[in-house]
Amino acid sequence: MPEQPVEFHGVAAADKPTRGRILVIDDEADIRESLETLLDLEGYTVHLADCAMDGLRKLESGIYDLILLDLMMPDRSGLDLLADIRARDIETPVFLITAYGSIDVAVQALKAGANDFIPKPWDNDKLVIEIDRQIAGARLERENRELRRALKQRYAFPNIVGKSERMQRVLDLVSQVAPSKSNILITGETGTGKELIAKAIHANSPRADRPFVGVNSGSLPPDLLESTLFGHVKGAFTGAVANRKGYFETANRGTIFFDEIGTLSADMQVKLLRVLQEREFMPVGSADVIRVDVRVIAATNADLSRMVDDGRFRQDLYYRLNVINIPLPPLRDRKEDVPRLVEHFFDVYCRENEKYLAADGRSQLHFEPEATHILMDYTWPGNVRELENAIERAVVLATSEEVPASVLPEQVLHSTGVRTAPGPDGKLPAGASLFETVADYERKIIIEALEECGYSQTEAATQLKIPLSTLNQKIKRLDIPVKRRSSGN
Ligand SMILES: Nc1ncnc2c1ncn2[C@@H]1O[C@H](COP(=O)(O)OP(=O)(O)OP(=O)(O)O)[C@@H](O)[C@H]1O
Ligand SMILES: [Mg+2]
Repeated sequence: MPEQPVEFHGVAAADKPTRGRILVIDDEADIRESLETLLDLEGYTVHLADCAMDGLRKLESGIYDLILLDLMMPDRSGLDLLADIRARDIETPVFLITAYGSIDVAVQALKAGANDFIPKPWDNDKLVIEIDRQIAGARLERENRELRRALKQRYAFPNIVGKSERMQRVLDLVSQVAPSKSNILITGETGTGKELIAKAIHANSPRADRPFVGVNSGSLPPDLLESTLFGHVKGAFTGAVANRKGYFETANRGTIFFDEIGTLSADMQVKLLRVLQEREFMPVGSADVIRVDVRVIAATNADLSRMVDDGRFRQDLYYRLNVINIPLPPLRDRKEDVPRLVEHFFDVYCRENEKYLAADGRSQLHFEPEATHILMDYTWPGNVRELENAIERAVVLATSEEVPASVLPEQVLHSTGVRTAPGPDGKLPAGASLFETVADYERKIIIEALEECGYSQTEAATQLKIPLSTLNQKIKRLDIPVKRRSSGN
C-alpha cells in the first residue's frame, strides 16, 4: 500500500524534505512574516498563529519540532500559554521571544519549561544555529527513547521460553496489549503458563511499579472471597475485629489477576461485574463507595463460552473480561519449545541446587540423547508445569552430568514403547539416526502387538502397558495401518 501523505492542518504536507516543522506564535504581523521568510529560506516548514488561542489549536492538530513563542500577546502571555502547553503533555521545544528581555523573565521562562530565550532583535544566523541544535537534540533524544523502548521490549520476557511460532504470536500479542488498560482473558490448559503471561503483561505495562494482586476464586468460600476482594469494616461479621482493605484497594492503579475465573459463584459474578462497570465498590458492612483504577486479567482452563451457553457464567461478565483473549497453546502443539524449556529448567534448578550438585562434582547437567527423544515424544498433558517438575526431579536424581532417561517420571517413560535398546546388538543400523531406528523399532513392536490382539487397540495398549490415547497417537505418527478387528465371526 502506498504511504499516505501526512495530513498537516488539513493540507497535505509537501513531499520535499524539511529541516523541521516550526510553529510561530506571535501577534505582530511583521515579526511573523520576517520569521517565516527567514526559516522558509533555510528549509524549514513554517506555520503561523497570530494569537495564543490559534497557537494552541494548531498545536493540538499538528506535530511540530519547535515552537517560537512571543512573550507578550493581547489574549494571553507567552509564559501562561507555555504552562498550558506543558500541562497538556506537549513536549515540543519552545523558544520564547521577547523585547522585554531581562534576567528575571528568562529565569521564569526556563522554569515554566522553555528550552531557550531569544531576545528581540535577534541575529538571524545565531537563531538558525540555535533552532538547528535544538531540533537535532530533540530528534536524538526521541531516537534514544525509541531505542531504549525497543531494547526493553526485546528483553521484556526474560523468564519466558517460547521460540515456537505459536508462542511468538502470544508474546507479540502480550507486547501489544500490555500498555493498554483493557481487560484480558488468558485461556489454556493446566500448566501452559497463564499466570506467567499475566505477570508478564503487568510487568510490561505502565502499572509495573504498582501491585500485581493474584486471587484464586476457587480456593476461597464465597463469603470470605467477598471480604478478601472488597475489604470489610470492623464488626461487619463475626471475626471482623478491625477494618481490612480488600484486594481491589490494594491493587489500585495496578493489576488484579483472577485465576480460575470459571469457579466464581453466581453471586460473586454479579459483584465483580459491578466493579468492572462502575469502577467502584463498597467494603462489606460499609456504605462508603471506594473508587479504584484496576486492570483486570482473568485466566481459565475451562471453556467459558460453553459455560455461558449452559447458563453457568454470566454473558455480560464474560464480554467484560474477554475484551482481549490470549489463548495459550498446549506444549504438544509446540514441541520445538521442549528442548529449550528443558535447557531453561536445567539452568534454573542447577542454580537452585548449586551447592548440592557441586558437592558431587557436578555443575551443568544435560540429558542423554534417548531421554531427549522420549521428552519430545511425550504428549505433556500437564504442559510446561509437568515438564518443569520432571526436570527438577532429574536434577535431584541424576548421578552424573549426563542424565539418563531412567530418571524421568514413570508416566513419561511409560508413554513410549521404548524401554529397551533399539537393536538386538545395541547398535544403530548403518546410515540411520537414533530417532529413525527407535521409530522403526517402535513401529515393529506396535504392529506385532496389534496383530497378536486381532487389531484391538484397547487390548494392544494393555499389552504394551501404555494408555490407549498414547497408542492412538503413535499409530497416527508412525503411520501404522489400522485393520478392522478380526473378531472370529
Ligand atoms: N513459556 C514458559 N517459559 C518458562 N517457564 C514457563 C513457561 N510457561 C510456563 N512456565 C512455568 O511453568 C509453571 C506453570 O506455569 P503457570 O503457573 O503460569 O501455568 P498456568 O497455566 O497458570 O497453570 P494452571 O492452569 O495449572 O494454574 C510455572 O512455574 C511457570 O513459570
Ligand atoms: Mg495458574
